[in-house]
Amino acid sequence: MTLAHTPPSKDCPAAITALADFIRHGFENPDAISGCVQFNIPGNRQAYPLAISFSPAKLTIQHDWLEHTDATLTLPLNTAEYIVNNITEVDFRDPEIMGTIDLDGHLDLINHVAKSLLRPTEDTRARLEQAEQLDTPAYALTDIPRVSNPPELDILESIAASQPMIITALDMRAPHHHWSLERLEADYGDVPLRVRSADQKETVAAFIQRVRSADLENDRIIEGHTKAYTEGCFLPEPMHKDFIPNHFTQDDYIEPQIWLGSVPVNVPASSLHHDPMDGFLYQIMGRKKLIMYAPNQAPYLYPMKAYNNYQPCWVKPEAPDYQRYPHYAKARGIEVVLNPGELLVQPAGWFHAVYCLDSPTFSVSYFLRH
Ligand SMILES: [Fe+2]
Repeated sequence: MTLAHTPPSKDCPAAITALADFIRHGFENPDAISGCVQFNIPGNRQAYPLAISFSPAKLTIQHDWLEHTDATLTLPLNTAEYIVNNITEVDFRDPEIMGTIDLDGHLDLINHVAKSLLRPTEDTRARLEQAEQLDTPAYALTDIPRVSNPPELDILESIAASQPMIITALDMRAPHHHWSLERLEADYGDVPLRVRSADQKETVAAFIQRVRSADLENDRIIEGHTKAYTEGCFLPEPMHKDFIPNHFTQDDYIEPQIWLGSVPVNVPASSLHHDPMDGFLYQIMGRKKLIMYAPNQAPYLYPMKAYNNYQPCWVKPEAPDYQRYPHYAKARGIEVVLNPGELLVQPAGWFHAVYCLDSPTFSVSYFLRH
């Protein structure tokens, strides 16, 4: 891909120059998409332009207004500053960031550019590279064992061997069969779940209303924008006691996240990616299907160059394109159905794409502290 980059004017704020540099070094286009995305960045006194035009052969970055654009993204200068200063942790699914940004036109083109605005920490990069070099045993590529209530030591050994397992019997304060949308609403309806915009917090009850009216026929769903799905926002503190299994102690876990909602079965609830930490996925309502690949399958899965907290892949297991991604034909994956009440133990670096087999589904995930 060739690059044309017109330099910014002298008074261009440093954050916008940095934004342009991150796009220049992080942009990839293996899906051969074309389009023009106009950034409109209001500062104190004036609005600054940044225009990104791309085709399969060329990326053009201009500090200018375009006559024709396919999509416009208006973000305040302080949001641009926040993104460049927090490039290793920014999450564009986070409504707290999205609440400050106005989007117009083709959202998928904006998503495509936003993919280049992420960078891993050295620690994240090292953990993923280390996992990819592990010699996963051959049996781990074909089968994930189901184990009833194993001791903690067995769980740690399985993680150390980079071997996922599914724990089938869990000792929970409120077992999975206690839970329904009605029960969640009754017990936790008033709990703030996530921020929808600067001045609007969405409660569990308000979110459940959206889940009930989700349009499951709509397969033009755009991640972070139109899914009736919590997208892994943090599990509210009051809910920890019911949804964190009694393995290890609370101090051993970080970042419990909630994955509640309705997503059409043919749309990934989470598209193919891998995480740098050893993780757990506890399934509470409905079934989820996971397509998993050992970390050493990375060369066949086309991981993205730009990423931060987790590394997504270009290939889509639900719609494989072997012409664009020929190595994907060599990938050896495992399909797993996680039933309510089961807990998936997922060692660092294992790739996974997640699909909702039922509506609604409810899972909680968390990572093991190292
Ligand atoms: Fe994940």
